[in-house]
Amino acid sequence: MSKMEDPEITKFNKECEANIAGYSTDDEWQQLSTDWYARGVKQKYMYNFKFLGRPIIQNPADMIAIQELIWEVKPSLIIETGIAHGGSLIMSATMLAALDYCEAIENGQILDPKTTNRHVLGIDIDIRSHNKAAIEAHPMSHRIDMIEGSSIAPEIIAQVHKIAKNYETTFVCLDSNHTHEHVLAELEAYAPLTSMGSYCVVFDTVIEDLPDDTFPDRPWCKGNNSKTAVWEYLKTHPEFKVDKQYNDKLVINSSPDGYLKRVG
Ligand SMILES: C[S@@+](CC[C@H](N)C(=O)[O-])C[C@H]1O[C@@H](n2cnc3c(N)ncnc32)[C@H](O)[C@@H]1O
Repeated sequence: MSKMEDPEITKFNKECEANIAGYSTDDEWQQLSTDWYARGVKQKYMYNFKFLGRPIIQNPADMIAIQELIWEVKPSLIIETGIAHGGSLIMSATMLAALDYCEAIENGQILDPKTTNRHVLGIDIDIRSHNKAAIEAHPMSHRIDMIEGSSIAPEIIAQVHKIAKNYETTFVCLDSNHTHEHVLAELEAYAPLTSMGSYCVVFDTVIEDLPDDTFPDRPWCKGNNSKTAVWEYLKTHPEFKVDKQYNDKLVINSSPDGYLKRVG
């Protein structure tokens, strides 16, 4: 028998939906938000946060969105390209620990925190020794595996696919090199590992919406970025659709059109 939702909760959810429905047509607020984001990039705002002590290079609103999705999907494996200081790996591992904890409570079990079937797999072309040491020393490290190499190198892709076979439900985050060519290759390599109903989140698609001079020292720009790669990928991959809910509700969003849900 399905659980009945409390009418007060239904009412609150409907109010939120009604609020959110108006955001995308509020042109002034949308423009303010894009301007804010461009300024935030210039001020390096996204570099200033930590997750359980490790720097995480993300826009805080997207961190909350990822948390919502991990709770909804309840993955056993999270694959992440782009490790940097390891903050997003620690956040994913923490969410997986929370899933295990909640599951144990629901089943009336006592949880051994070191025993888990849920893991995070991170891939980075350059895992700096101080970052690797700090990630390995973190209390969440028993849930984290790291592979050093380019995320689009055939031997790395093969390694990730082999590991993914051992897991039931996979969630994918692409946050490495944000050029069109690289992200398209990552999508071809890793999006197929996304489980039905789960997500492949492509970060920094906002680059397409920002002024051309926002990243003077980076290879990505308007017309050559992760959003253009998503658009191209979706032309031939109807098994994914953009979850517009995240475009609409985040407003200040690093990844508009980047929340791809597997639907087929
Ligand atoms: C934006 S940072 C990742 C941030 C991290 N996900 C977080 O939230 O804290 C991008 C990372 O991508 C890595 N990278 C760049 N090119 C790559 C490639 N070809 N393959 C894998 N990683 C790459 C860089 O070394 C860098 O650590």
